[in-house]
Amino acid sequence: MLKINILTLFPNMFDGFLTESIIKRAIEQDKVKINIKNLRDYANNKHNQVDDTPYGGGAGMVLKCEPVFEAVEDLKKKNSKVILMTPQGKQFTQDKAKELSKEKDLIIICGHYEGFDERIETIVDEEISIGDYILTGGEIPAMAISDSITRLLPGVIENESKENESFTDNLLDYPTYTKPREYRGMKVPNVLLSGDHKKIDEWRKEEQIKKTKEKRPDLIKNRVRKVIGKYSLMDDTSNKKMINMNIDDAYKFKPKKSFDVNKVMLVEPTFINKIAKKNLQKKLDTLMKQIDIVLNDETDDEGGSYVLGEINRMQELIVTLYGKYLEDAYLTLVLLKLDALKSEVSMKEMEKIETINYNKKGRSR
Ligand SMILES: C[S@@+](CC[C@H](N)C(=O)[O-])C[C@H]1O[C@@H](n2cnc3c(N)ncnc32)[C@H](O)[C@@H]1O
Repeated sequence: MLKINILTLFPNMFDGFLTESIIKRAIEQDKVKINIKNLRDYANNKHNQVDDTPYGGGAGMVLKCEPVFEAVEDLKKKNSKVILMTPQGKQFTQDKAKELSKEKDLIIICGHYEGFDERIETIVDEEISIGDYILTGGEIPAMAISDSITRLLPGVIENESKENESFTDNLLDYPTYTKPREYRGMKVPNVLLSGDHKKIDEWRKEEQIKKTKEKRPDLIKNRVRKVIGKYSLMDDTSNKKMINMNIDDAYKFKPKKSFDVNKVMLVEPTFINKIAKKNLQKKLDTLMKQIDIVLNDETDDEGGSYVLGEINRMQELIVTLYGKYLEDAYLTLVLLKLDALKSEVSMKEMEKIETINYNKKGRSR
């Protein structure tokens, strides 16, 4: 059974939290034990003082080290994880809730007033924030994380309720409706009344993706990163579904230095098309610049044969690599253009050779 110890200066704030609804039932059924500990019990001075003014001046009172260190030392077991509630911590997520629901013993420290003595950070395993805003104390954050952890414990709520809920697989939950079928002109979607469960499942999945794209596109990005692992990128604007594709068929390339990955594999067809085209275009632009020098720079005597080799290599790359990913019509056009440029460069080369020979003859006469 998971035990959650909460260290607070305001234990009464937890009264409603522990005695209502799902948390109350989970405690009664011994699925979780929530132990609220008053930090004042660990005040080692006759005034029960647990906070003091900040060194260096400034507003408010600061939670002292002594009661917190002593409370943690008192409660800590071998397998305890000590969590500090702080707006400066890592933002709490559903994944973090899942991770913490597998622990056996949590000790959650709630700050209050201006905060806590910085040295308290040395005895904690994790600093957690519930969002980028400031609350008066860590009690509501401690309730928020304890609630989300507890509902994930086996037997607390039905497993089915957890399957599609928001943030599972980085998607938001699908839309739900209940009676009546029509309210103020707003109708329940027909598919939900059809009784066809396959269709309902498909509709719900599509709605999950649609809703997530609309409301939380940032989650979709993470989702695809997860699906393909660390070698992935996501086309945010793409509305197409992912298809099952062997990773060997993925379009692979080296990304720019600004990404912290050394290889990218794309499996989403429209995105492959976009990126492969862009990469090919970049290579073609470089080649075009070289061709331009050969064709227009009269002082360039040596570039011709090199550029002809480059055009051949590019044509080969188009057939062997880009042929797999880009449309035939587009590639045929590029290959024809390269053929035409190859002829032009060859002609220019011939002209140059003829001029050199002519000059040589002229001089020898
Ligand atoms: C008023 S806040 C102190 C804020 C602190 N002076 C700062 O600016 O970072 C008092 C306490 O409330 C808790 N708290 C406030 N906002 C929080 C949040 N977003 N997430 C987690 N804990 C929070 C922390 O325990 C914090 O020590």
